[in-house]
Amino acid sequence: MKVLNFGSLNLDMVYGMEHIVRSGETFTADQLTRAPGGKGLNQSVALARAGAQVYHAGNIGQDGALLLETLRSAGVRTEYVRTLPETSGHAIIQVERGGENAIILYTGANGSVTEEQIDEVLAGFAAGDWLVLQNEINRVDEIMEKAARKGMRIVLNPSPMDEKIGRLPLELVDLFLLNEIEGADITGQTDPEEILDCLAQRFPQAQVVLTLGGQGARYLGGGQRLSQPAVRTNVVDTTAAGDTFTGFFISTLLRGGTPAEALETAAKASAIAVSRKGAAPSIPTWDEVREVSQ
Ligand code: RIB
Repeated sequence: MKVLNFGSLNLDMVYGMEHIVRSGETFTADQLTRAPGGKGLNQSVALARAGAQVYHAGNIGQDGALLLETLRSAGVRTEYVRTLPETSGHAIIQVERGGENAIILYTGANGSVTEEQIDEVLAGFAAGDWLVLQNEINRVDEIMEKAARKGMRIVLNPSPMDEKIGRLPLELVDLFLLNEIEGADITGQTDPEEILDCLAQRFPQAQVVLTLGGQGARYLGGGQRLSQPAVRTNVVDTTAAGDTFTGFFISTLLRGGTPAEALETAAKASAIAVSRKGAAPSIPTWDEVREVSQ
């Protein structure tokens, strides 16, 4: 069983800030770090560091050598990453003391996925293989429809949330991983249990994982309802916490773990990620996660 992650690759410019800049304000950053990121790339790195065999599909520009190298050194297969004559996607990330962030995204090459590319990539996968998607590339709806016709298992992290999510064929999703803001946008509910109930009612075929930051995570699937507390840590940078959670949750299921085991592993992994700076560089390995006690 193979895992295909069709997703974004971004060059992240991470600015350390005393506070996140307000409208009309000019404010000097304490620090600038350039690092690999993008929800797609981060999730592929997390999947691979957690032990899954993952193929990344997506587009980079002429400036994307670092992105390709990051995937390769994490053990991700990169034969479906195309290099285009444009610039790679990038993100301008402000991280304030306390670890919260604000992100400006520039789509770049991530927005140049073609129908031919989708067909070419999906030709390498079969029924039962897993497809992981986020919302930082174009044609996500087509990828979902074509993959579902092949019998692939579809995992959607509807992030970042925008109006395109509402137009996706969400009834094809087997596993949703989303945070409370995304859950509230899709369901119109704010209480975590109501978000889960509403998603389960609308998408009875799907398992749902709802992440709640410092409040942990909830799961609802196959009639089973689970709650996972957050693992306490010193928060330095929350960037890629959700991506790390997603990669470790899926990988644990692929290793034959139960949803409860997957939640616990993912909570430990994202606690490590938030205690370190950056997106992809902050993602731990499976061995590091096993050393964490709850
Ligand atoms: O989820 C974190 C990621 O969001 C960053 O790496 C940035 O590139 C944006 O896509």
